[in-house]
Amino acid sequence: MTPTIRPATPADAAAIAAVYRPYVTDTVISFETEPPDADEIARRMAAPPLLPWLVAERAGAVTGYAYASAHRARAAYRWSADVSVYLEPGERGRGTGRALYARLVEILRELGYVGAYAGVTLPNPASVGLHEAMGFRPVGVYRGVGHKFGRWYDVGWWQLPLADPPPDDPAEPRPWAPG
Ligand SMILES: CC(C)(COP(=O)(O)OP(=O)(O)OC[C@H]1O[C@@H](n2cnc3c(N)ncnc32)[C@H](O)[C@@H]1OP(=O)(O)O)[C@@H](O)C(=O)NCCC(=O)NCCS
Repeated sequence: MTPTIRPATPADAAAIAAVYRPYVTDTVISFETEPPDADEIARRMAAPPLLPWLVAERAGAVTGYAYASAHRARAAYRWSADVSVYLEPGERGRGTGRALYARLVEILRELGYVGAYAGVTLPNPASVGLHEAMGFRPVGVYRGVGHKFGRWYDVGWWQLPLADPPPDDPAEPRPWAPG
């Protein structure tokens, strides 16, 4: 059974930080080197342009989350969002990544975003499998773009068009208002 998927609130920031922490300290899945604390996660959740953050909840406990962030800061990129998803190890392979992403992508469409992008440190078969199962297509690979734990890593990029065809005169994307 998939867990409940719901909008994240600032009260979830500590649980989100706890899910994310081992990916920062022990893996190259995240290129961060210092795990953000709950205050920093809450700050990111509230950062303009206000993009969606969702949590997966099982028996009242957060077991994973997915969120979107601005792809790049320059104005012409403002219809493009990066997406990412992290689960507790025991939550993997149960349909939760798909459930979080399905809702995240739906919200991005509703807000007027036109493209979703995902950067994946290679190799990561589960992440590549999830993105391709959700319809993301490979764009290309940044070779040796990150250095962590004493070696260089490639990052592959995947793209999902959210509007087909993309509008010639797109409306401004709207900020996310949870609920
Ligand atoms: C990547 C991750 C979010 C996938 O979520 P998940 O809940 O395990 O995936 P799901 O069970 O929803 O599976 C969704 C699809 O992904 C694919 N997939 C999942 N795990 C896979 C694996 N280990 N190898 C290959 N494909 C896999 C399946 O083909 C599945 O397709 P289907 O729904 O059509 O059957 C999860 O494994 C995870 O948290 N990994 C560690 C963090 C991470 O890598 N995050 C991504 C950062 S870029």
